Amino acid sequence: MIKIAPSLLSADFSKLGEEVEKITKAGADLIHFDVMDGHFVPNLTFGPMILESIRKYSNLPFEAHLMITNPERYWKKFADAGADIIGIHIECELDHISIIKEIQKYGKKACIVINPPTPVEKIYPFLEIIDMVLIMTVNPGFGGQKFIYQVVEKIKKVTKYREEKRLKFEIEVDGGINDQTSKIAIENGADILVAGNYIFSGKDYKERIDSLRWKR
Ligand code: DX5
Ligand code: ZN
Repeated sequence: MIKIAPSLLSADFSKLGEEVEKITKAGADLIHFDVMDGHFVPNLTFGPMILESIRKYSNLPFEAHLMITNPERYWKKFADAGADIIGIHIECELDHISIIKEIQKYGKKACIVINPPTPVEKIYPFLEIIDMVLIMTVNPGFGGQKFIYQVVEKIKKVTKYREEKRLKFEIEVDGGINDQTSKIAIENGADILVAGNYIFSGKDYKERIDSLRWKR
């Protein structure tokens, strides 16, 4: 079963708790929380205090997608605020192996995130230990951008690698997902789809979420 992760980036920030409650009732599988520091990406969003304040509105797993330069300094704050999955970009200069192990030792799932221009081979050394891979299909920073079709090749490669090595990590895709691009992502191996603008611009969140779940 394909999982859907609504991105709060496109929710109404003036009533974030209510929005989290609504997408939970609409059938979301996890909540995607986009953290931006105005440095790793040219935009600023929310920090751990906001995550903590909305945590009580849903029992679903929360995923903190850290688009920040120094995730090693902050990931624990998001974990303590109630994030269940921590996403770290491969483009950050740090010791990814140690941070992944630390996250897992802390009882959380570790996810490695890769941007469109980064060669997919860069994440291969981590695939044996990782819980999830997040493949960006837009350049991170803003919601509502267009799906970059060239990235489909990367989804295919990671799916093939997982099959060949009989690994268990989940493949998540983020950026420009709608009822058409979701089909392509799923056909090529994605297990989890992040969608912001497409879900939150709809009147009926359930209808939007259901329209993303194509059968493989
Ligand atoms: C982009 C974020 C995405 C984004 C997806 O920087 O990582 O999670 O919110 O939004 P849509 O679905 O609108 O492309
Ligand atoms: Zn994201």
